[in-house]
Amino acid sequence: MTDKLIIFDTTLRDGEQSPGASMTRDEKLRIARQLERLKVDVIEAGFAASSNGDFEAVQLIANNIKDSTVCSLSRANDRDIARAAEALKGANRARIHTFIATSPLHMEKKLRMTPEQVLEQAKQSVRFARNLVADIEFSPEDGYRSDVDFLCRVLEAVIKEGATTLNIPDTVGYAVPELYGNFIKTLRERVPNSDKAIWSVHCHNDLGMAVANSLAGVKIGGARQIECTINGLGERAGNCSLEEVVMAVKTRKDYFGLELGIDTTHILAASRMVSQTTGFVVQPNKAVVGANAFAHASGIHQDGVLKARDTYEIMRAEDVGWSANKIVLGKLSGRNAFKQRLQELGVSLDSETELNNAFARFKELADRKSEIFDEDILALVSDESAAGEQEEYGFVSLSQTSETGEQPKASIVITVAGTEKRSSATGNGPVDASLKAIESLVQSGAEMVLYSVNAISGSTESQGEVTVRLQNSGRVVNGVGADPDIVVASAKAYLSALNKLHSKSERVAAQG
Ligand code: KIV
Ligand code: ZN
Repeated sequence: MTDKLIIFDTTLRDGEQSPGASMTRDEKLRIARQLERLKVDVIEAGFAASSNGDFEAVQLIANNIKDSTVCSLSRANDRDIARAAEALKGANRARIHTFIATSPLHMEKKLRMTPEQVLEQAKQSVRFARNLVADIEFSPEDGYRSDVDFLCRVLEAVIKEGATTLNIPDTVGYAVPELYGNFIKTLRERVPNSDKAIWSVHCHNDLGMAVANSLAGVKIGGARQIECTINGLGERAGNCSLEEVVMAVKTRKDYFGLELGIDTTHILAASRMVSQTTGFVVQPNKAVVGANAFAHASGIHQDGVLKARDTYEIMRAEDVGWSANKIVLGKLSGRNAFKQRLQELGVSLDSETELNNAFARFKELADRKSEIFDEDILALVSDESAAGEQEEYGFVSLSQTSETGEQPKASIVITVAGTEKRSSATGNGPVDASLKAIESLVQSGAEMVLYSVNAISGSTESQGEVTVRLQNSGRVVNGVGADPDIVVASAKAYLSALNKLHSKSERVAAQG
């Protein structure tokens, strides 16, 4: 009998709750496919009852993901639960995750309910959900700050009603590892029939301890499911980071003694995809997926690693998807080499047409840039999947002038619903002038809440990757554009964000 640790990814639900991280339905499906390649056990695809957009995203993922369990969050009421079940109809394996707050503070101030009412509602919701789906997860929100006696009563009751997973959230990231681990242990010891359910941990990172707390919940508390997100994405300081927690359990198998189903070689591609989609840049010194995670800069370290790599390396870079012998592609590389590199990067395009289009863009880029790195290819395919949709605005060409002492000017040609339009504007700098020229044509009135430029690889020959976050009538969207010319990359990113604002499939409301 193996002792397996279940990895429950909530990038598409709790991760997306992070302000500015909202994703379109198609972006969510793309990430879900990458999570499936990673062999994540459970994908929390969204919160079906929170908006039509969320419902459609959960439904799309449920209909397309075959290996991982697909889960929808739902408040503890019949309407939400029925909506979740409806969205999950097409799933091979479906889970409903229902929650209600149990801490004195949340019950009194947020729910305005008595503990007895909360207990009744928790029971009734699990009973209702169990009639629709066999796999039911229950979470007492703000569980870690709840009264332990009351929490034991709630958990005992929901097991009786048929909950199969009990998740104990540290909703506000208040826990410390030893205390959280002991809290889970106490619950498991005190709740009758605790062995009838899988215990799960869900930790937020407000004090920087989400990974440590989750691991303590497993090691001390005996939990066998960890809830986490790619890059630790999530509200405020984020959630427990998947890549860190998975690599900790794998690297220190001697200590944890647990099996994982995860194919870690797809971790880096997942991290890049989430970062590119949301515009949340990964810090260079981030464990496992940061650009410096495996870079040895000091002479002593480099010397040691060359003599014997385990002098300073505890994990192999290849094991998380950093290619060992990176063959850089260039303009002489053929379609097969390109296709193979995509496979190595864990990217599968949906059709031959998408592959051909991506290859054509690759050739175009290779004409302008002598070495094409993995990062360039990932940027290119993310452009490709965006280009798959019928877009309102398209980039055609741009020219701009900037000279010391003169006001920068830009002239732009874009397509609006298939028709070419031109405009010129001046601005503080060439990027400002270009975006003003676009805005004069489009008149979106959107407010820019983030503009960031990132060099995709390490030299001045690198492509610039620009993220633009726009806000309009309560909606927040991200647009990403890549090009060796950062002014062009900025224009592409701006157009991509405008397309999302224009698209009706975009999610409208944040979680209620
Ligand atoms: O942090 C939290 O409490 C949650 C629950 C909805 C599980 O995300
Ligand atoms: Zn959470």
